[in-house]
Amino acid sequence: MVAEAGVGGRGLGAGKKPEGFDGAPGGRVEPGMPPPEQVEGGIVVEFHGAWKAFGRLQVLAGLDLQIRRRETITIIGGSGSGKTVLLKLIVGLLKPEAGQILVEGEDIAPLTEAQLFRVRRRIGFLFQGAALFDSLSVGENVAYPLREHTRMDDAKIGARVREVLGLVGLDGVEAKEPSALSGGMRKRVGLARAIALAPSLILYDEPTTGLDPQNAEKINDLIRDLQRKLGVTSVVVTHDMHSAFKVSDRIAMLRDGRIAALGTPEELQRSSHEFVQDFIAGRIE
Ligand SMILES: Nc1ncnc2c1ncn2[C@@H]1O[C@H](COP(=O)(O)OP(=O)(O)O)[C@@H](O)[C@H]1O
Ligand SMILES: [Mg+2]
Repeated sequence: MVAEAGVGGRGLGAGKKPEGFDGAPGGRVEPGMPPPEQVEGGIVVEFHGAWKAFGRLQVLAGLDLQIRRRETITIIGGSGSGKTVLLKLIVGLLKPEAGQILVEGEDIAPLTEAQLFRVRRRIGFLFQGAALFDSLSVGENVAYPLREHTRMDDAKIGARVREVLGLVGLDGVEAKEPSALSGGMRKRVGLARAIALAPSLILYDEPTTGLDPQNAEKINDLIRDLQRKLGVTSVVVTHDMHSAFKVSDRIAMLRDGRIAALGTPEELQRSSHEFVQDFIAGRIE
């Protein structure tokens, strides 16, 4: 099996792959293939003139953005500016009225639900509020995508669940009910579930919102940690400026349906745009 069954050919396959995946990139590297860390950078996700409206509400208006392989990019912007919409467009939960959204070079806007299944399998999505199933144990929550997308047996699933819970610093909580956990722990369970299928792209929607500073800091550290350990590309949506400056290689500011500013944290800090300075200083929401 070639280690690049990814959409568009270059392969989303970074990070360690659990065994027993059905049709997934295997651990083996084809002779002649460069090791993953030498694969060229490139663009993982590209918005090209994307428009999205709900009725008369124009949310995205010709948005252009390129997300680079293995970077952690944070999207900042006021409440209702379209940050969550942007993430949902990447996984095809929403469709643009115009423009393209390329994931590994493939325009996903025209894809059917069945075709999107293949794309989503390679993307981890940590939804706002973690969105755990309260009727399932923590272990079954994390196992869910493995049962949906692979033919791994129970033993392998159990091992993988323990492995990813370990990665987020949660050992021995499989049997607990999600409602028995703190907000910070629930987020980490959501994150364990998001990385269960070894995605190479992780989308975080407001990962620190609602957490106390200590737990927020744990999540910030985890975002950096996973990026390093798994070699993933991360897109973080937040209005938490501390988190943005802590985790980001680049920060993009969404305003009036487009990316109004884009750069490293240092570059943004030096931005001459008044709205950027106001936002960073917390003078506007
Ligand atoms: N499915 C939907 N139907 C109608 N309006 C929506 C829908 N999703 C988002 N919106 C609206 O689009 C705007 C952007 O939403 P969102 O991306 O969730 O903002 P945020 O930047 O706070 O995450 C908001 O005004 C929101 O009410
Ligand atoms: Mg949102």
